[in-house]
Amino acid sequence: MSNKIAILGSINVDTTYHVERFPQPGETISAISKSSAPGGKGANQAVAAARSGAKTYFVGKVGDDNEGKFMLEALKEEHVDTDCIVIDKVHGTGTAMVTLDVNGQNHIMVYGGANQALLKEDLENTDKVLDSADFLISQFETPQDVTAAAFKEAKNHGVITFLNPAPAHEIDPEVLKYTDIIAPNETESAILTGIKLNGEDSMLKTAEYFADKGVDNLLITLGSRGVFYSTPNGHGLVPAFKVKAVDTTAAGDTFVGAMASQLHTNLDNIEEALVYGQRASSLTVQKMGAMPSIPFGDQVEEALNEN
Ligand code: ATP
Ligand code: RIB
Repeated sequence: MSNKIAILGSINVDTTYHVERFPQPGETISAISKSSAPGGKGANQAVAAARSGAKTYFVGKVGDDNEGKFMLEALKEEHVDTDCIVIDKVHGTGTAMVTLDVNGQNHIMVYGGANQALLKEDLENTDKVLDSADFLISQFETPQDVTAAAFKEAKNHGVITFLNPAPAHEIDPEVLKYTDIIAPNETESAILTGIKLNGEDSMLKTAEYFADKGVDNLLITLGSRGVFYSTPNGHGLVPAFKVKAVDTTAAGDTFVGAMASQLHTNLDNIEEALVYGQRASSLTVQKMGAMPSIPFGDQVEEALNEN
């Protein structure tokens, strides 16, 4: 089974500089090589969901430039519905500069461009999408007031809202008011709540923090340690798969998109969906790049059958 997923989010062209080590402040170093590929948290999550068989719709913005055309084509090739992607005449398409060292660690700098120029008015044609979708997923690379408006409308359509608060920013309470599931990584979680994560008690405290704000379902991604989940029906830690990571860019995005493609809207298969999402991201971290490293559903199934 696969869901219908709507993504409200960012679209970036990523340029990756492969380096021996990160430069010190003020230092110039030579890159070993350079590559460019489609990316952006929203676009990566959409592709992860689509490659796992979900019917996927995108709501977002690109510039009226070559990067925008490239990204629209890339999403269409992945069978992502791009009807609700608006073209901005003023701002350029979002870009990201990724520096990746030989240990697979990265630094990312993002230019928001058209993503940050997304407006509530740009949502006017999204009714068709919300009528069809099971889940609406958003991140923090597009303005929060637009996410709040879309989540509010999603609730009117009976759609489950899923927030991946990345990169971490203070959350607009209007967004939380309409969020059903929140999925930060451990750094984002600590920044958002002020609760340092050092074991199950701290994660349960984090779940309480969000529940007090009206969000009952929490997933904290813990890198190679797995995912902690807490819902009104229980909590637990689902371990990650043991693999050798070469580039973790888009691990979180793959997890979110692939997991949501499988999750029942009543969350009764949450552990199974967490295993599926993590198997997908365990394949992503073994390959270079963001979007190019995201696996297809049959590759995830094959890898699951190996265990
Ligand atoms: P990123 O910003 O690098 O895309 P993230 O910080 O949002 O990722 P993580 O918690 O690092 O998210 O990773 C998401 C999931 O991907 C993890 O829960 C885990 O299942 C998988 N993953 C990440 N890193 C590794 C790794 N080194 N080995 C195996 N699985 C990994
Ligand atoms: O999560 C990875 C993504 O973050 C990259 O593709 C980059 O575009 C940034 O948005």
